[in-house]
Amino acid sequence: MVEFALPKNSRLKKGKTFEAPAGATHVRRFEIYRWNPDSGENPRIDVYEIDMDSCGPMVLDAILKIKNEIDSTLSLRRSCREGVCGSCAMNINGRNTLACTKAISDYSGTVKIFPLPHMAVVKDLVADMTNFFAQYASIKPWIETQTPPPADRERLQSREERAKLDGLYECILCACCSTSCPSYWWNSERYLGPAVLLQAYRWLADSRDENTGSRLDELEDPFKLYRCHTIMNCTDTCPKGLNPAKAIAEIKKMLIQRQEG
Ligand code: SF4
Ligand code: SF4
Ligand code: FES
Repeated sequence: MVEFALPKNSRLKKGKTFEAPAGATHVRRFEIYRWNPDSGENPRIDVYEIDMDSCGPMVLDAILKIKNEIDSTLSLRRSCREGVCGSCAMNINGRNTLACTKAISDYSGTVKIFPLPHMAVVKDLVADMTNFFAQYASIKPWIETQTPPPADRERLQSREERAKLDGLYECILCACCSTSCPSYWWNSERYLGPAVLLQAYRWLADSRDENTGSRLDELEDPFKLYRCHTIMNCTDTCPKGLNPAKAIAEIKKMLIQRQEG
């Protein structure tokens, strides 16, 4: 895994201020975390004043206006701009969320934007997701079977079986939940975290999957699963309205039921 230095950001200094254009009457102030590992400098907070009369309504619109018109050195990830790809996840005024689905008008005063917390930073608002996606790959996020498929059709599900995936398949792997979880902050190398555990349950709950036993064997581990202490930050922060804490509880229930025979 590529290693990036974690910024020691307990005392972030104010950096540059980019003032609003003269004559702007509808100005909002954005404070954004900046760090470039190549500069050799400590992280800082840059201040951007945006004329809202020439800016779209969402936080991502403001960040892209900054990048396109004011300061092209600002780095971020984004793609779909409609809450589908999960790449614009960041911490806005203390909460992990998607910049593209959060309206600027939802915030009063200064909007403070940081990368996802407790992740190594690649640059500015770009968090290092290497460990997160390696953990995702470790739960084998695909259907595993032992029997041959029917000769004349796909492996079918009843409506009831398909309904068991609701609330799970919608996860966009944005990592807002995992990076809001204190257990994941302190044990992210060993605890899988709420996003990956919700995904693990998505495959356990799939009636077409035939490797439930080995999936549960993999998860029955003091760190991978049992670091969840039901703090509920994950469910509270999920921008898609999902409930990773409930999915984790369902996995624990499956393990208990298996023990009871
Ligand atoms: S419920 Fe579990 S996974 Fe969710 S924030 Fe709390 S400890 Fe983390
Ligand atoms: S459960 Fe929600 S917050 Fe967590 S990764 Fe999936 S969509 Fe993002
Ligand atoms: S840009 Fe895709 S979720 Fe925000």
